[in-house]
Formats: sequence, structure tokens, C-alpha cells
Amino acid sequence: MPRRIAAGNWKMNGTQAALSELASIAAAAGEVSCTTILCPPTTLLQAAVQSSGSLAIGGQNCHHEATGAHTGDVSAQMLADVGAQYVIVGHSERRNSYAESDALVQAKARAVLSAEITPIICIGESIEQRESGETISVISTQLSASLPTEAQIVVAYEPIWAIGTGLVPAIAQITEVHDALRALLVKTYGAQGNEISILYGGSVKASNASEIFAVSNVNGALVGGASLKAVDFAPIMQALSDS
Ligand code: PGA
Repeated sequence: MPRRIAAGNWKMNGTQAALSELASIAAAAGEVSCTTILCPPTTLLQAAVQSSGSLAIGGQNCHHEATGAHTGDVSAQMLADVGAQYVIVGHSERRNSYAESDALVQAKARAVLSAEITPIICIGESIEQRESGETISVISTQLSASLPTEAQIVVAYEPIWAIGTGLVPAIAQITEVHDALRALLVKTYGAQGNEISILYGGSVKASNASEIFAVSNVNGALVGGASLKAVDFAPIMQALSDS
């Protein structure tokens, strides 16, 4: 069975004052049976690792090379060096704002694995692609072209139109995509594909989490806004733990 994972992505939110919130999230993580991950901004990573307890800490992005003349960038090796255990790669905000291609996302996933930590590879369709019936072909193409050779990965399906909007796909739509992703992972990695956690992301809240976690190939969530406060994120972790 894939591991159940509740992952939070703080995006570009949080100064040192937010470390007390992180400590509350870490305390809540100690109460649940699922894997919990929090990806704070890079500036808080090291301090976050120090107060994380059973909460794993992850980065939100990395460069695809380990070292070099890349002003302003951070490598997966550097994130691993300060204690990150995961790195999100290919989030739609990076694919769209920085024109990150599938090939670049794949190179980043490889870099994360080379640093001996785990990539969380994100994919998802736009509203136009959904409305023109292209969802399955878009996400299949994105995923195949973003996958590394090794199966030690986490996949996150995040429809772009559901991120930060309060809109969530119908359960049947989530089921259809997650089943297609599972089939693709098994085709790529054989039986190991059945062990890969596939997370759903996009406006996950305490109020909709249980219903989403009941979908057979949903193994957890990647949560943005609702991961900023323990009071919002803890019930999502609990719902996953109870599922
Ligand atoms: P959201 O973001 O939960 O705020 O919709 C999800 C994400 O971008 O990972």
C-alpha cells in the first residue's frame, strides 16, 4: 500500500514569527498515524527542521544541478544538507511563472533523488484543457515526461483551476484522474508503481478532506492555504489518519 501523506506547502509565506505555528503543526503531526510533511520557504528550512519532531520538512523547488554559477538558486543537495527530506518539483506556479518544462521538472526530480531525498512531482490541467476534454491526455503527457527512472517519488495531482480558488473537482473527476495516474505509474515502474503515493491538491480543507481521502487512488493531499495554520491543517491530517 502507498504511504498516506499530508503535505503542506507554505509557498512564499512565513517569516520567523511563523515558527511557533510550525511548532503547533509539528505537535499535531505527533498525534496522527499518516506521514506529515511541511514545505516552508527556504529561509525557514533549517529552523523548521530543528523543531519538526515527527513532521518531515521539504523544500518547494530546487535547481537541477548540484552546484554552480546559478545566482539565487538552491540545489537539492543544499536542501538535503539542512535536513529537508522532500522537495516539491513542477508546481504549476513554477511551471507557469518560470516556464518550467516537463524536461526541466524531470531533471529536478533526478537531482532530488541524487541528493537521496524524495521529489514530490506536481502535474495538473488548466481550466481550458479541462473544458476541452483534454485532462487525461494532458496529465498523462506531463507525468510521463516528468518521471525519473527511479520509483522513489511522490506524485501530486493539482488541477490549476482548483489551486487557491475554493473550487474542487467532483469526486468522479478526481477518481478518473487518480486511476489514470496509477495505471501510468504501474505501466512505467511495474509493481513498484502501486507503492507510489498519489496526492490530490487544490483547495483541500477540513470540510472536504474526508470525502477526497475516501477515493481509492488518493493517498493524501498537498495543501496550500489550509496548511498555514495548525488549526486548519491538523484536522486534514486527522482526516487522512482516520481514512
Ligand atoms: P491550495 O494550494 O490548497 O491553497 O489550493 C494547493 C497547492 O498549490 O499546493
